[in-house]
Amino acid sequence: MDPAADLNAALLRAHPAAARCLSPLGRRLYFPKGIPVQSREAAGARFNATIGQLRGADGHAAPLPALAPMLQGLDPDEAFLYAPQGGLPRLRQAWARRLAARAAPQAAPSLSLPFVTGGITHALSLLADLFVGPETNVLLPDPAWDNYVHIFGTRCGARLHSYRSVGPAGLDLGALEAGLAGLEGPALVVLNLPSNPGGYAPTLDQAEQLAQLLAAQPGPLVVLLDDAYQGMVWEGGHLAQSLLHRLGALADPERLLVVSADGATKELFFFGGRVAFATFATPPAAAPALEEKLTAAIRVSVSCASSPAQAMVATALADPGLQAQRDAQHADLAARWRALRAALAAEGVEAWPFNAAFFALLPVQGDPEALRRALLADGLGVVSAGAGQNLRLSYATLQADEMAPVAAILAKRLRA
Ligand SMILES: Cc1ncc(COP(=O)(O)O)c(C=O)c1O
Repeated sequence: MDPAADLNAALLRAHPAAARCLSPLGRRLYFPKGIPVQSREAAGARFNATIGQLRGADGHAAPLPALAPMLQGLDPDEAFLYAPQGGLPRLRQAWARRLAARAAPQAAPSLSLPFVTGGITHALSLLADLFVGPETNVLLPDPAWDNYVHIFGTRCGARLHSYRSVGPAGLDLGALEAGLAGLEGPALVVLNLPSNPGGYAPTLDQAEQLAQLLAAQPGPLVVLLDDAYQGMVWEGGHLAQSLLHRLGALADPERLLVVSADGATKELFFFGGRVAFATFATPPAAAPALEEKLTAAIRVSVSCASSPAQAMVATALADPGLQAQRDAQHADLAARWRALRAALAAEGVEAWPFNAAFFALLPVQGDPEALRRALLADGLGVVSAGAGQNLRLSYATLQADEMAPVAAILAKRLRA
């Protein structure tokens, strides 16, 4: 009996595209009936002598007094004991409700239960374990978040390709279409909207064209949506929510697997919490096999995500004040965006279209790294790495009244 082969056969029946896109590691992964499984099976036993974690005489977690007060307000069992591999059930349910609330009623595909990871980077990395090997063609946006090259290229050894994501008129659909047409064999394409480093979300019309373009691909193709900045769009008429639902509703499992990575990192401004999710838009029949592959991948890497952070996010999601608190942060970020746009325009500093997330991308002549160093000498830190002939400015770390002096420094150097 070969459990991985059985699992792969089940996935092939339920989701042919997903099965055909598995990497060599992805094909080998299965979740063994080891300690976590046997411990769960013994949960109701009179004496559960399975798992290596400490319970006190009352049957609950027994944290040291040096640690316990710091997590007051959290359930000690949730915060101090191991979470299941897929994450705390109430957190997964709460994130599932959050995702479902964003779907248009006419386009609500079935989604797998969000799988908890240690940050969005970890979600991408686990998905890369499943679907990216040395033979996989991976199509990345250009410019892109600089870690993609290392996750898919350095770590997985994949064949990397790129498509220009944004042109002067917004989303460059032609470039994506050409990039997709050049892919051979099982492939994976990354979409990151709103984008880093572009800080751009497409118009609703463009988003619909994008969904149609992807849905028409012959496959087998994994569409990986990095939705880190979902909801952070400062201009009306642009895509504020993930394409997960729209694309999931259009996707044919014979050809396309759609999966999102999102999380509390940016959406709840909990950067250090390392709580994120991987969610498949898939027919329910394929969800258990895909979840088992992820469970196996997390078990062999970090075993499960950190419990206290999961308990904190689950508790925050149940707080009726959360939405108003986020709205206030968004209003503040939108004010910074407006102030930066106005300051750049006043100084005549050119920028690619930017309307979302935390970033503005400024095209530059000459060596961006030399320019970055010169700006640093002027007292302004920006990023050049991974952004081609561009500098990335994160306005989330600046105050609205700092945009004018920042734009003046930029203008001086960019005109020089
Ligand atoms: C597009 C994008 N994806 C993923 C990440 C990583 O998120 P996390 O800190 O949750 O790993 C970032 C963080 O900057 C990002 O900009």
